Amino acid sequence: MISNNKICISNNWQYFNENESNKVTINIPHNNVNVPYSYFDEKIYQIISYYEKNINIENDKKRIFLKFDGVMTAFTLYVNGKKLSEQRGGYIPHSIEITDYVKVGENKIFVEVDSTERNDIPPFGYVVDYLTFCGIYRDVWKYELDNTFIKNLFFKYEILEHNGTYGKVKCMPIIQVDCLNDENIDIIYNILNNKVDTNINVKKGVNRYNLNEIIIENVELWSIENPKMNLCNVTLISDTSKDNASINVGFRDLKILDNGIFINNEKIKLMGLNRHQSFPYVGYAMPKRVQEEDAIILKEELGLNTVRCSHYPQSTYFLDKCDNIGLLVLEEIPGWQHISKDESWRNQVLDDVKAMIERDYNHPSIITWGVRINESGDDEELYTKTNNLAKELDDTRLTSGVRCYEGSQLLEGIYTMNDFVHNGGEAILRNRKTCTNLDYPVPYMVTEFCGHIYPTKKFDCEEKLVEHALRHARVQSCCKLDDEILGAIGWCAFDYNTHFDFGSGDRICYHGVMDMFRMPKFASYVYKSQKDIKKEVVLEPLTYWSRGEKQMGIVFPIYVFTNCNSIELKLNNISKGIFKREKQNLDEKLSGLNNPPIVINTINGEWGASWTDAEFIGYDENNNIVGSKKFCASVTYEDIKVDMYSNELYCDRLDATRISVKAIDKEGNILPFISDSIDIEVDGDIEVIGLNRLNFIGGSIAFWVKSKVLNNKSTATIKIKSFYGYEKELKINLI
Ligand code: GAL
Repeated sequence: MISNNKICISNNWQYFNENESNKVTINIPHNNVNVPYSYFDEKIYQIISYYEKNINIENDKKRIFLKFDGVMTAFTLYVNGKKLSEQRGGYIPHSIEITDYVKVGENKIFVEVDSTERNDIPPFGYVVDYLTFCGIYRDVWKYELDNTFIKNLFFKYEILEHNGTYGKVKCMPIIQVDCLNDENIDIIYNILNNKVDTNINVKKGVNRYNLNEIIIENVELWSIENPKMNLCNVTLISDTSKDNASINVGFRDLKILDNGIFINNEKIKLMGLNRHQSFPYVGYAMPKRVQEEDAIILKEELGLNTVRCSHYPQSTYFLDKCDNIGLLVLEEIPGWQHISKDESWRNQVLDDVKAMIERDYNHPSIITWGVRINESGDDEELYTKTNNLAKELDDTRLTSGVRCYEGSQLLEGIYTMNDFVHNGGEAILRNRKTCTNLDYPVPYMVTEFCGHIYPTKKFDCEEKLVEHALRHARVQSCCKLDDEILGAIGWCAFDYNTHFDFGSGDRICYHGVMDMFRMPKFASYVYKSQKDIKKEVVLEPLTYWSRGEKQMGIVFPIYVFTNCNSIELKLNNISKGIFKREKQNLDEKLSGLNNPPIVINTINGEWGASWTDAEFIGYDENNNIVGSKKFCASVTYEDIKVDMYSNELYCDRLDATRISVKAIDKEGNILPFISDSIDIEVDGDIEVIGLNRLNFIGGSIAFWVKSKVLNNKSTATIKIKSFYGYEKELKINLI
């Protein structure tokens, strides 16, 4: 459903569940049960919940639809007491026509949400290494439409020629129309100031029609560096109906070949991470701004060019942001290793493929459709169907399907492989032929590595955090040097809650390069330091700079992940030399990286030797100082540093933003082993998501605040006070 004739009805629902019959007023996105950060029984949210709301209908001539963007796992809608058929699948939108059940005036909507892990719906049926948090966790919309309306628009195009930045584009949009009776309609679409009019005889039902083609010269192309998006307006006019819709389109020439991925002829080596869409306390239920922030963290903070939406279609707000900032996406259907024999389960897989492609066709950031259950075995019957369906719905993108064993049957366009072979030893990545078992070249990429092979907590010891970083660096380096691998996507971006069968026993998989609060571990600096120095100077020595943290009092070698040209080390203000990217300062296994770390190895001193301040100074290629990082010999707790992603929140809907807090010394360095807590007090129309008292975890913590949805434009205050007495105050404008 893409019509503009819609309103968001996410605010003010009444909620209760099988364990708690008292109704409470809630706003959507909503998680049915708040969960602790760790050590909770995942059964607590696998319950039946109920949501109700009155909606107003003004015009009895309209067709009325409700669209639920995401409800975990299945739900049944009742309209004025009438039961409609069950909707299954927790990661795809569901649009339901309710015209026959509503009247002008007030109408009661009642939604029964089944959040149990049902064996007839993927990803369930066996074990799953992630939690499928529940509730109506994405927005809900009401559409009031005429008899004939625009259901969808697939903006198909072909780039006929281009010079890398501008191109000649042949637009060949396909419209999907829903109509009650056969009729003649006019469709006008407007793209880049071109108005294209098509007259079609549409047939009763939901059908697709090709619109008139048009060739446009000199179109600015979409790319990672210049993610140019264009608005396309579409209007439908007939004797009975009028409708309009707007979609965003980005034009790019994408080629995925066995020797590279090319966007507008520029070869791109994918460097990315996997993302789960979960957050502490509220699971999946985070609004637009928070979804967008994740994309920004991945692209702007970590400098990645790719994200894999593991293991299901993710929020369209996240995908829109990926389009807008130029972050490539691998999207895939829900599932985890298991394929059921149950027919309704298998049909759901096909429904998921269809819903994913129909929802997300127009995102230029999406480069392939994942049409296999992550790491499942071969199933020729099922995967022939998923592949054929994907090709029928979208013949412009290749399919892929993530496997984890060699010689899996290739029915897709890309062989995507989880290669966990690197366990710290000599083997880093297997080669393409070994994994595909094919005598001929095919597009091949690595979609996971590291993860459970080396779980690493933000509060682990320095040596562990460094080795975690080096493993990410070795795999990315090895991938860079192998032209037969199109890219590598590590497991994973953020730590995540999981079932008891996985993780560290506390329901957390510590596999992220950032923790669950999106706070960095050393491994995140591997990625960050690959950024172009013109965008940001990155200078991250992987050290806690102390005499006794590593074994035997050893301090060096220190890996400095940086995009500087060279690094000078000063101890007690005395230079120990300038370290360039020369053989003696490099780790051979990391030489493939754009910016391999500079390894500083100098006299270690020993247990009992005097301990000094240190400064790492970064120089650019012209030997200008561009950055510096100082460490104190005598570290003391000096302050807390607070950062807020956005100082504005909408007050007419549920909106939220993240605030991070670090315990720091006088040089601004994090105190990884601090034992302190913070109390958070808010004043005004906002609330803290989760707990108001938090402990630092590995020297930092973050929390989210959300607006109360009172429609009161005002200012709210957040006071953060640590037990040791450090205080900060922030203001948020509710707009
Ligand atoms: C993979 C799986 C991921 C995650 C990862 C942990 O096998 O696809 O979902 O469990 O292992 O390393």
